[in-house]
Amino acid sequence: MKYSHILFAGLASAAAVKKPVPKPDADGKYTLEAEGIKAQFIPYAATLTNLFVQDKNGIERDIVLGYDNTSFYPVDPGHPVYNAIPGRYANRIGNGQFTIDNVTYHLVKNDGPNTLHSGPNNWSYRFWSVQDVTKTSITFGLHDPANSTGMPGRVEAKVKYSVAPYRWNIEIDATSPEAKTPIQVTQHTYFQLDAFANPNNNRTIWNHTFHMPYAKRVMEADKNALPTGVIAKIPKGAIDDFWSSPKKLGFASDRPEFEDHCGGGCHGYNGNWAFDADRPKNAVVATLSSEWSGIKADLRTNQDAIVIYTCNWNDGKTEFKSTQGMKGQDKFIPRDGCIAIEAQDYVDGINHPEWGRLDKQIFGPGDKYHWESSWTFGTI
Ligand SMILES: *[C@@H]1O[C@H](CO)[C@@H](O)[C@H](O)[C@H]1NC(C)=O
Ligand SMILES: *[C@@H]1O[C@H](CO)[C@@H](O)[C@H](O)[C@H]1NC(C)=O
Ligand SMILES: *[C@@H]1O[C@H](CO)[C@@H](O)[C@H](O)[C@H]1NC(C)=O
Ligand SMILES: *[C@@H]1O[C@H](CO)[C@@H](O)[C@H](O)[C@H]1NC(C)=O
Ligand SMILES: *[C@@H]1O[C@H](CO)[C@@H](O)[C@H](O)[C@H]1NC(C)=O
Ligand SMILES: *[C@@H]1O[C@H](CO)[C@@H](O)[C@H](O)[C@H]1NC(C)=O
Repeated sequence: MKYSHILFAGLASAAAVKKPVPKPDADGKYTLEAEGIKAQFIPYAATLTNLFVQDKNGIERDIVLGYDNTSFYPVDPGHPVYNAIPGRYANRIGNGQFTIDNVTYHLVKNDGPNTLHSGPNNWSYRFWSVQDVTKTSITFGLHDPANSTGMPGRVEAKVKYSVAPYRWNIEIDATSPEAKTPIQVTQHTYFQLDAFANPNNNRTIWNHTFHMPYAKRVMEADKNALPTGVIAKIPKGAIDDFWSSPKKLGFASDRPEFEDHCGGGCHGYNGNWAFDADRPKNAVVATLSSEWSGIKADLRTNQDAIVIYTCNWNDGKTEFKSTQGMKGQDKFIPRDGCIAIEAQDYVDGINHPEWGRLDKQIFGPGDKYHWESSWTFGTI
């Protein structure tokens, strides 16, 4: 009697564990849904593949870049880090090296003289494990072995994506239990709020409106888009001024300085802005909107800086998804056809101790890295 009671309890708890969880669809996508939002993910690079929100007419629009074919992400030679998590150190590391406790580490230089998104074995080229799934959340995990990218110590990371009404939440946690190492990640999200369906548009991003009320400083950068160390105040009306008022992303496109503004023949933006330290907690730090679709996206983050890239390097040969565009038209994404918005810390802060960012970018035994952001969607 007693024995069967225990057995019954064991079965009951096993059954409780086996509550139905969302399964990936035939393409391997996991779908999360809440009022006004549907988001889909794949384990490769912990990637958001589709993000559906309603436009001002109640039509569902898929407002992020990506591919229909989920098997293409790992083999894509262009690999633009579509809505993925680059790591363990996102963006550039100057001269492919850094020093911790008098030891200098050398990395693979994969972006001219510098290292971009941590070089080989970077997190956005890896299959993450699926750790937990509910109807509104998914958690991916990654074990990054010591020296996998030339950096010391293993790193254990996870990202939890969740949806709430009209909102996408992202939380990234990481630890480095064995050695001090650089950690700095982001969600590298590419938006096109018209989902390439604006009939009057040439599909560029320049007519989207952008506002970053607390971004009054920008890192000066060299011809390889690497910060020089100078953090400049942005005067009202200057090409990088998105703080004094909301502006069209292309507001400065007729100025000569727009043409080579982001290094090596790159026009538009590929820069790093710093937020005011005294901004209100939980403030909206960036708002992107489009008059045509009427969709508006508000970013909140615990990060102190942001990288903005207006897709200069799109070669016009990549197609957008079947969930986007208009019937009867080609699907090519032009140069300047999107914007990547990447909340993170100061680019290459590990090589600029004078910025005082080392305790936000170097993590060792006992330390906890925590990144969080949310996007709230509405209409204008
Ligand atoms: C998807 O991409 C993979 C990898 O490139 C390719 O082998 C496969 O044929 C593609 N499938 C379709 C339907 O295009
Ligand atoms: C690094 O080198 C300096 C100068 O030689 C020395 O004063 C310091 O103690 C060293 N720091 C560590 C952590 O080894
Ligand atoms: C990331 O790692 C992959 C696989 O090792 C490599 O092919 C790719 O070039 C790396 N990407 C970057 C930006 O370094
Ligand atoms: C780290 O990896 C690089 C490249 O594979 C190798 O040259 C180096 O010896 C490794 N360092 C350590 C400490 O294992
Ligand atoms: C850009 O927006 C303005 C309204 O602000 C509109 O008149 C114009 O047609 C738009 N251009 C494109 C190419 O969508
Ligand atoms: C595309 O439209 C934008 C916004 O109206 C404009 O600034 C840009 O010059 C246009 N580009 C081309 C190639 O027509």
